[in-house]
Amino acid sequence: MAVFVSHSEEETLRWAEAFAGTLTAGDTVLLEGEMGAGKTVLAKGIARGLGVRSEVTSPTYAYINSYEEGRLPLYHFDCYRVPSEDYARALGFEEYFSMGGVCLVEWSENIPSLLPKDFRTVKITKTPFGREIEF
Ligand SMILES: Nc1ncnc2c1ncn2[C@@H]1O[C@H](COP(=O)(O)OP(=O)(O)OP(=O)(O)O)[C@@H](O)[C@H]1O
Ligand SMILES: [Mg+2]
Repeated sequence: MAVFVSHSEEETLRWAEAFAGTLTAGDTVLLEGEMGAGKTVLAKGIARGLGVRSEVTSPTYAYINSYEEGRLPLYHFDCYRVPSEDYARALGFEEYFSMGGVCLVEWSENIPSLLPKDFRTVKITKTPFGREIEF
């Protein structure tokens, strides 16, 4: 495990952009951290690093946003409001993990039984100086 200390949103974006270069087809990355820690900022940076040019916003409709224009397809999940795992299963969440793209999952603790067995984790934590990013 390694730690990057970020002092601003822009530093987090740039770290995430570089991190995106390490991703390959089929990778799932759990974005962990409390509300407002910066999980969506990480997702924006990763999207940028993959070459996604459209604006990345928090998924609301059906919990998942798809971006197809980058180096790899990108699927960004926000499971905060997912009512149950059964509900998510019925929406086809699991299929996204085997589509050969990159899956970024916020609030993955709400869908533990749907996650693939292999995943990476990036954890972002607020500190008095900014954010710590563990990866
Ligand atoms: N060093 C930093 N890195 C990332 N975000 C930062 C940093 N410093 C301040 N911020 C701010 O923290 C906020 C992070 O918001 P973000 O929506 O990414 O959080 P989140 O973890 O996705 O929350 P939620 O669980 O509600 O989805 C943004 O307003 C961002 O500008
Ligand atoms: Mg978010």
